[in-house]
Amino acid sequence: MLTPALIERKRDGGRLTAEEWQALVRAYAAGEVPDYQMAALLMAVFFTGLDADELRALTQAMLESGAGLTFATGAPPRVDKHSTGGVGDKVSLVLAPLVAACGIWVPMISGRGLGHTGGTLDKLEAIPGFQTRLTLAAARRQVERIGCVMLGQTADIAPADRKLYALRDATATIESIPLIAASIMSKKLAEGLSGLVLDIKRGSGAFLPELERGLALARTMIALGEHHGCRTVALLTAMDRPLGRACGNALETEEAFAALRGEGPADLMAVTFALGAEMLAVAGVASDLGDARRRLDRALTSGAAAARCREVIAAQGGNPAVVDDPAVLPVAARTAVFPSAARGFVTQVDARVIGRAIVAMGGGRRTMDDRIDPGVGFLITAKPGDHVERGQPLASVFAADDAGLAIGRQALETAVRIGEAPPQDTLPLVSHRVTVDGVEEVGEDVRP
Ligand code: URA
Repeated sequence: MLTPALIERKRDGGRLTAEEWQALVRAYAAGEVPDYQMAALLMAVFFTGLDADELRALTQAMLESGAGLTFATGAPPRVDKHSTGGVGDKVSLVLAPLVAACGIWVPMISGRGLGHTGGTLDKLEAIPGFQTRLTLAAARRQVERIGCVMLGQTADIAPADRKLYALRDATATIESIPLIAASIMSKKLAEGLSGLVLDIKRGSGAFLPELERGLALARTMIALGEHHGCRTVALLTAMDRPLGRACGNALETEEAFAALRGEGPADLMAVTFALGAEMLAVAGVASDLGDARRRLDRALTSGAAAARCREVIAAQGGNPAVVDDPAVLPVAARTAVFPSAARGFVTQVDARVIGRAIVAMGGGRRTMDDRIDPGVGFLITAKPGDHVERGQPLASVFAADDAGLAIGRQALETAVRIGEAPPQDTLPLVSHRVTVDGVEEVGEDVRP
């Protein structure tokens, strides 16, 4: 294989055949193509893109670089949800047991916090004893036994993506829609799914803040999923402010369990139900989205979802009492209340500023080897559109020490804006629904 000739062809706007992508990915994973050549090729793709056939071939090659979950014919439908990442986004912790309690298998493979966004694995690991490092065989057995598992990516899932992702991170080639789509879908398709629901975040706290880029990513991933026989639907949801009130690992875990007990904040419940209904619909167990919502509601109010969550936690080595007793979770040593400096309307709670502050306070990673402090973060009760009085508490900061408290206060001063009138540009919680048939505007919202 003449790698420079392939790089040259991509650089000049040409295309590689499926066989060429297959050979290239295989050789790169085996260490036979050096990083500098792959980096040049990735940069060429960044600028010239991939056509649909190339994207399918690259995704397939990355998928085939490793192993995956396989289930017996006739097994219940398997469905997962993937979020492009946000701040306060603890939906997975609520959704996995909730959907499993409706009779669907949920083999959920999640990631750690990335940049200013949080990760499901870090939230789960706030639960003392909870194991996220499972083998694929153990994960499959748990799904077969209790219908749900929540684990981290194993070394044998799409190893070519692991190597490529690290290279992209070091060469400024992450923000390419075809490369993001191939990377995410190669890992998701390894879960042996029959359906996948994508939560594409938009707004200041999202990786791709603009609507058009979010829609393009949704369409690209849907095409890949459907090509592999995995029914794929995407919802575009708001990340111009944090989701729910809690931001920070243990605080979010606590809020997710409150949600499973029927005490979740309205915006978190709205996004969870919207995504959950799509999961039940792609699995084919609900006749329509209305029926799906009724099933989710029953699973929540009957306590079946919370019971399933306790089973998952116990199966993975954690203390299941945590679902009912937040005292089991780690807590920060210091807290402070943040009052409003003025009377007026909350016009903004900037999710990105909050996410960056959590990292600075020790609740996220600057490098993949950093240890995180699960107790730090924020409880932010103020939402855009709320009317507040001067001195009214808007948030609480949870930190390890005085320096952390100062970082938290400073972040809230920047993130939370008060004005004379309610904001006009707050994004709807769920703005668009994308399927293989096209894009629908949804405009679902909950007003404070
Ligand atoms: N997450 C992934 O897994 N891959 C990307 O390329 C971007 C986000």
